[in-house]
Amino acid sequence: MVATVMAAITVCAAESGAPTGVPDVLKTVAGKPVTTVETWEQVRRPEVLELFKTHVFGRNAVERPSTLRFEPIEPDREMMEGKALRKRVNIRYSGPGGEGAIALTAFIPKAAQPVPAFVLICNRSSAKHIDPDRLTKNPFFPAEELVARGYAALAFHNGDVDPDFHDGFTNGVHAVFQPDPSVRKPDAWGTIAAWAWGASRVMDWIETQPTIDRTRVGVVGHSRGGKTALWCGATDTRFALTISNNSGCGGAKFNRMALPKSESIARINKSFPHWFCTNYKQYGDNEDALPVDQHMLVALIAPRLAYVASATLDDWAGQPGEFHSCLLASPVWRLYGQQGLVGETLPAPDTPLHQGRVGYHLRTGKHDLTLYDWQRFMDFADKHK
Ligand code: GCU
Repeated sequence: MVATVMAAITVCAAESGAPTGVPDVLKTVAGKPVTTVETWEQVRRPEVLELFKTHVFGRNAVERPSTLRFEPIEPDREMMEGKALRKRVNIRYSGPGGEGAIALTAFIPKAAQPVPAFVLICNRSSAKHIDPDRLTKNPFFPAEELVARGYAALAFHNGDVDPDFHDGFTNGVHAVFQPDPSVRKPDAWGTIAAWAWGASRVMDWIETQPTIDRTRVGVVGHSRGGKTALWCGATDTRFALTISNNSGCGGAKFNRMALPKSESIARINKSFPHWFCTNYKQYGDNEDALPVDQHMLVALIAPRLAYVASATLDDWAGQPGEFHSCLLASPVWRLYGQQGLVGETLPAPDTPLHQGRVGYHLRTGKHDLTLYDWQRFMDFADKHK
């Protein structure tokens, strides 16, 4: 691991010195340097968003559906020794292909003022990882700790939006809004885009909740959920903070970097053909042809808060690549007169970089979302409120 990281740091240094072939986040498609916030917001940001829709995640069939409605699953209940109110709601929608529902669980601390919140896109089983009754408390969703620090803890299961297997887009939200998969275009939304869409529907619900401060909501995801969180933060500017944990390929990991132990675009398309749009397939073993790299995904979050977390034993996610995207995205925060990532090289394990508006840490341990990670996310959110 140390050797891999060292080798990759050398690559980082070489690339940050004189990047060749790396798409420049601050240069328009027409080749014009972007030197003002206005040009970023009106020209370059829309271009980058469009590139990710066309080549990576695909284009949503629908945004907020007119059929969206919120239906309580059961009456609100006091939990956590009276410290929190639990709300359970079904976020329902329908379209030409039928109906769908996202079961949301929210623990909202009792407070005099509206509270900030974290929304977890949970890619592990709801029963064990969300457990609305809190009989099973899993650090993947440490609701008690979040509530104790004054944050509302919200979670939904990604599979409610779209089941995580390749079924040719005949189930989940894809089928609700596009019942005939044979007419899907090469840039039609894949499963990650669908999950991100689900997180946006949670935000629609949050906007109806006076006890939650909608201006201070973070979206959090681990691994495939971390890729999703980044796309959600990129596409939905209502999220003030975007947190991607161990997101790797298609998430925060920079593609144009020699990290042989990490997942490639070819591998991810082969193992998970449903995650991205069909156009993304052409970039397997052909990363250099991709008109974006993942630093541009992180940059779409500027000037809001972004956070990327890696783990020392998670070579598959390519830790130095996750770090490198934060570094190369940071000039966009600087355009706003803010600090992006403050730090030049991959930090030592368990020494978080929290000074700028792009946070990063490398946790000791394996691919997972742990209490340590959540504590650092909350520290970062506390610091940048
Ligand atoms: C696999 C996959 C990764 C993904 C991970 C996960 O390892 O290759 O891209 O991030 O699963 O979601 O746990």
